[in-house]
Amino acid sequence: MATGLIRRAIASASSRSTAASLRYVCVRTMASEAQAQQVDLKARDKTDVKTFSIYRWNPDNPKKPELKEYEIDLKDCGPMVLDALIKIKNEMDPTLTFRRSCREGICGSCAMNIDGCNGLACLTKIAPSEAGATMITPLPHMFVIKDLVVDMTNFYNQYKSIEPWLKRKTPAAELDGKEIRQSKKDRAKLDGMYECILCACCSTSCPSYWWNPESYLGPAALLHANRWISDSRDEYTKERLDAINDEFKLYRCHTILNCARACPKGLNPGKQIQHIKQLQLKP
Ligand code: SF4
Ligand code: SF4
Ligand code: FES
Repeated sequence: MATGLIRRAIASASSRSTAASLRYVCVRTMASEAQAQQVDLKARDKTDVKTFSIYRWNPDNPKKPELKEYEIDLKDCGPMVLDALIKIKNEMDPTLTFRRSCREGICGSCAMNIDGCNGLACLTKIAPSEAGATMITPLPHMFVIKDLVVDMTNFYNQYKSIEPWLKRKTPAAELDGKEIRQSKKDRAKLDGMYECILCACCSTSCPSYWWNPESYLGPAALLHANRWISDSRDEYTKERLDAINDEFKLYRCHTILNCARACPKGLNPGKQIQHIKQLQLKP
């Protein structure tokens, strides 16, 4: 009997101590979970992870193109899409290929399609991580050379075809070494055109250019055609107008104005094309 009581006493004492030690373990566990949560929160405060889904295609290993995902901590990255691309190339994947030079919207080389809109990577802010992944693809309807680099040959040939330089009939000798003067009013007629950086965001967002890239000059080349047509110092206005008075070169523009929406310099190529069409109607 006494032995039984002692055993029960020992058993209840040991169950009390087990419960106490369990409580202790639970408290410890809860404490360490809380600590872990705090560490987690602190870590979360220090990082802001954003996914970039980037078009990849390599001509040296020609598989199907793919979208490859990269995760970047926005707290350790500059604010622009070009900053993210440079970070990926420098720190994660040196094979990622894209064009860039000035990183301030001057050279036009970082034009690409970002979340469905054409734009310059150096002037496009990274959308917050809560907005989800950002998708980056090459300029639409262009032949891809590698990853985000497209073949600009046709685009530049079209620009060249409008003869983008000052053309004069008056012999240079008559100027007697003096500059060709231009009034402030005439100079102002070039506003909205001379700022173009030939990035091709407009042409590659134009549905008419998508369907007729060889025959339609596209908004960028036509904007430049109008730039020289409107220049008071140029003496080949009629010849310039005649050269583009063509069903395909000029009249494929249907004034949808995608071009104006896409231009990162705030220009309106559609409006300049309208100006050329109006001049064509003049006797
Ligand atoms: S306005 Fe003309 S050039 Fe501009 S997107 Fe439309 S069709 Fe193309
Ligand atoms: S008009 Fe604008 S979008 Fe088009 S090439 Fe020039 S700068 Fe780029
Ligand atoms: S890097 Fe020159 S325009 Fe973007």
